[in-house]
Amino acid sequence: MEKGNKIYEGKAKILYDTDNADLIIQEFKDDATAFDATKKGTIKGKGVINNEISCAIFQLLESKGIPTHFVKKLSNRDMLVKRLKIVMVEVTIRNIAAGGLSKLLGIEEGIILKTPVLEYHYKDDLLHDPLINDYHIEILKLATPQEMKKIKDYSFSVNQIMKDFFDKANLKLVDFKLEFGTHKGKMLLGDEISPDTCRLWDKITNEKLDKDRFRRDLGRIEEAYQEVLKRIKT
Ligand code: TMP
Ligand code: ASP
Repeated sequence: MEKGNKIYEGKAKILYDTDNADLIIQEFKDDATAFDATKKGTIKGKGVINNEISCAIFQLLESKGIPTHFVKKLSNRDMLVKRLKIVMVEVTIRNIAAGGLSKLLGIEEGIILKTPVLEYHYKDDLLHDPLINDYHIEILKLATPQEMKKIKDYSFSVNQIMKDFFDKANLKLVDFKLEFGTHKGKMLLGDEISPDTCRLWDKITNEKLDKDRFRRDLGRIEEAYQEVLKRIKT
């Protein structure tokens, strides 16, 4: 499958057309941004690692009955996926307080949440991806209530599957972000699932093995991404 025209270049990925109108290629870059792209950098080898981790997780989720856009891994940095009409809502699930939840509600980082917390954010850079709820989604016509029910059910299932998966790799799944879209009328999980979009802590030491190392200048960033890949492969 050859790359056609560039459709879109995002912060961490580039999307290309293919000769099949239903399929596109997503290329994973080493670029990293944080805090609304006010912080920019490069994490050497990140694209290759995130492609491999995402492919492994999408395959796992498909095997457990979650429909995703994943078709196949094409090369080190390239993944073939189904073309989606993206729902402009980011879904976050949190198992342990960190990041945005700690800031929003003053809950200390590391506190285990009694129940997983689901959040929606409106995908709008100009508005800084604000926190929204089902009513906002309805008035903005971002998705129908039926579509949101599917998205919510899939998201909690993904949480359970990924918690078990990362637990076996001696990692705690603190939180993560998902994106969905429709393909021929069907709701599919899209985007990527990687240390860019999940918080992952070592099960014993709570060492951060995700993009927070970049966000907070903690050092050993490349090593953290490599470590996650190594652990999920063994
Ligand atoms: P947050 O605590 O900053 O809201 O992030 C929650 C999770 O979502 C965390 O695992 C990182 C991920 N995330 C993204 O994938 N993209 C983003 O733009 C943001 C803000 C967070
Ligand atoms: N990637 C996002 C940005 O650049 C934020 C993040 O992941 O922290 O704004």
